[in-house]
Amino acid sequence: MGCYNRLISTIEGKEVENESLVNLPNWLPLSFRIRGGSWFSIDNVEILRYEQELNLKHAVLERRIHFRDSESRQTKLVERRFISMSQPNLMCLQLELEACNWSGLLEVRSALDGRVQNNNVERYAPFNKQHLKTLLVQRIGEDSLELNCCTLQSRVEIALAGRTRLRQSNRSLPLQRETDADENSITGYLSMEIESGAVIQIEKIAALFTSQDKAIANCREAARKAIDEAGDFSNLYKNHCKAWEQLWEYCKLDTNPAEQLPYFRLHMFQILQNISRHTTELDVGIPPSGWQGEEYHGHIFWDELFIFPFLAYRFPTTARAMLLYRYRRLDAARKMAREAGYKGAMFPWRSASTGREETPLLQYNLYSGHWMQDDTYLQHHIGAIIAYSIANYVEVTNDQLFLAEYGAEMMLEIARFWASKASYNSSRGRYEILGVVGPDEHHTRYPSALPATDSVSRDKSAGINNNTYTNVMAAWTLCQAGRLYEHLPEKRRQELTRLLDIGEHEPDLWDKVRKNMHLPVLEDGTLEQFEGFSQLSSFDHQQFRQHYGNKRIDWVLEAKGDAVVRYKVAKQADTSLLLYLFSPAELSEIVQEMGYTLSTDDLKKTIKQQIGYTANESSLSRIVFAGALAHLDSEASWKFFKEAQYIDLSPKEDNDSSEGIHLGAMGGTLGVLQHHYLGIEITSGTFMINPALPKGLEWVKLSLQFHGVNIECEVSRSRLTLRSREEEAETIKVGHKNHVKELAAGATVIFHTQEENNEQR
Ligand code: BGC
Repeated sequence: MGCYNRLISTIEGKEVENESLVNLPNWLPLSFRIRGGSWFSIDNVEILRYEQELNLKHAVLERRIHFRDSESRQTKLVERRFISMSQPNLMCLQLELEACNWSGLLEVRSALDGRVQNNNVERYAPFNKQHLKTLLVQRIGEDSLELNCCTLQSRVEIALAGRTRLRQSNRSLPLQRETDADENSITGYLSMEIESGAVIQIEKIAALFTSQDKAIANCREAARKAIDEAGDFSNLYKNHCKAWEQLWEYCKLDTNPAEQLPYFRLHMFQILQNISRHTTELDVGIPPSGWQGEEYHGHIFWDELFIFPFLAYRFPTTARAMLLYRYRRLDAARKMAREAGYKGAMFPWRSASTGREETPLLQYNLYSGHWMQDDTYLQHHIGAIIAYSIANYVEVTNDQLFLAEYGAEMMLEIARFWASKASYNSSRGRYEILGVVGPDEHHTRYPSALPATDSVSRDKSAGINNNTYTNVMAAWTLCQAGRLYEHLPEKRRQELTRLLDIGEHEPDLWDKVRKNMHLPVLEDGTLEQFEGFSQLSSFDHQQFRQHYGNKRIDWVLEAKGDAVVRYKVAKQADTSLLLYLFSPAELSEIVQEMGYTLSTDDLKKTIKQQIGYTANESSLSRIVFAGALAHLDSEASWKFFKEAQYIDLSPKEDNDSSEGIHLGAMGGTLGVLQHHYLGIEITSGTFMINPALPKGLEWVKLSLQFHGVNIECEVSRSRLTLRSREEEAETIKVGHKNHVKELAAGATVIFHTQEENNEQR
């Protein structure tokens, strides 16, 4: 369940409960001082040289600093730190210090700090931040400290133990030690005399366990034992490197030109740091900012949609674990549907420990100091993305057992929600989905239904009608569920029919709803984002940016007494997402079954219009446009792609990582490369590859798994080479355009893209 905790805060005179991912006690404090001077701080010394390097291959951060202090003493310092990938409860920090021109007493200070709060996001300042209570601090043995604490409401116990040692020429040194503690922190002091020219390593190894960890008797004992048994820094580092090298084996990627590679590798690295075999064992989803940032309180949204394909094709067990996080909360989603008057399962927009809706009632506008009603919880489209990921996972892995045991139940329940949420409009002779919010969070209601300024409740007037994206995804889910129900093994079908009480005529209703779902198509043949969007007032982007720079549009307008819902301005890509998920041909087929005809031209026009009015205020927006345009306008796609690739590497306000990284956008760049530029998709059990390489990519080579077979794909403008990497593997079907071939173990299939012929070697 992650390490979440709920706290009550008083907002606008009312008590509101909020669940947050808890910032855990700090194991990092480690400093030194020379001959009784002041403790080392980078701000108090003269920097002669500074280098910082994040080694992606081995996941280690290294800083090299050469400094002169106020006594003209020069010291060279190398700091290395990593979180062990081989022993995931261990964290390692090393300071290597060279006394260049001084000798004398070196004192080291190492602490465990439990005074940590959740206070890294400015707009959450009014919320209660104290999630932890310290239970115990003490010294253990010669060189270690421990700190135990627990979360206040969820009662997760957290045990942190830290061992600090000094080494010289690979020998541990005998030391003077002292300890100092208060209620919430504990500090150990070590000291020794050193000679000029000596190189000393200060090593801190910390272990963190919680009462949620598996295969332990209790977390305190586990943490103590872990640091007691841990080897030294260099041994731990060796094992950590081996574990990372193994992970990278599954993520092989090469491109020409190579200038794109560092970005792809950075994005893979961030995903692997957050989601790996180690999280597979836990009951966790994927928070938008990973586990490092406090943004969005660590809630689980739909961002996994962008990360999921990367995982499913490389780490299927990990992808499966993400779906099981949802399955465990299926009952909560059923309850939400029931309480809202619907059938099936209504998954929450923001989920955390129990699967209840965690979207806060209000959000704080930093510009006006007002609390604004937050209606984004009406993004019921999240259910369709869970269904999409289930289908994607099963297509890639062929894990029929998962489908029968877990996937089918979720898929059917999500489809039943859509069938009951859709209402029949007899004057149109069509089904409609009313009162929802689409991916564009700037439009949560119609201008005529703006809430009273002092409103702090969820009112029925919120939401917009017939959001194109939502309606298509609902129709798609209903179609998938219908097919699945028909093709499930008979025994399982009967079981689910009985367990879920599926009526005899329900599948017919699913079919009827999806085939008659309304779509707001405008006179020029384009898709309207939602019904009524085109009638909203125009918004002058240029003028806004001139006046307000990168400020949030919704907040600026509210601060001026206006409201963003009045304007034709979208926070992020909305309808275009359909072309991120489906190829133009697939999308045309889906809407055709709904009774509409959409030409490629209509699709192009729809996206172009949307780009014109979208502010790209969400990090997910540009990558959606990059994917949507890949097969329609390669140049425009590449431009969006390059901008998205730069995410978290720029100090710009809308693009920095001060509140957490943007994991969804990072997964998205890998998704666009795989799904759009290389055109990898699974069609009727065949591994299809229909590339649309943009100008910036001449050639790409990557490895992935399909139905348990390791495949290497090499794509250039003229040739597609698919190689089954192992001598023993199933024969699979691979295809390009209308050609389908068998790829046997150890064999290679080549498609010539220009000449349109193919051969097998
Ligand atoms: C976006 C959502 C996204 C969330 C977390 C919001 O700003 O509008 O689509 O899921 O951020 O990344």
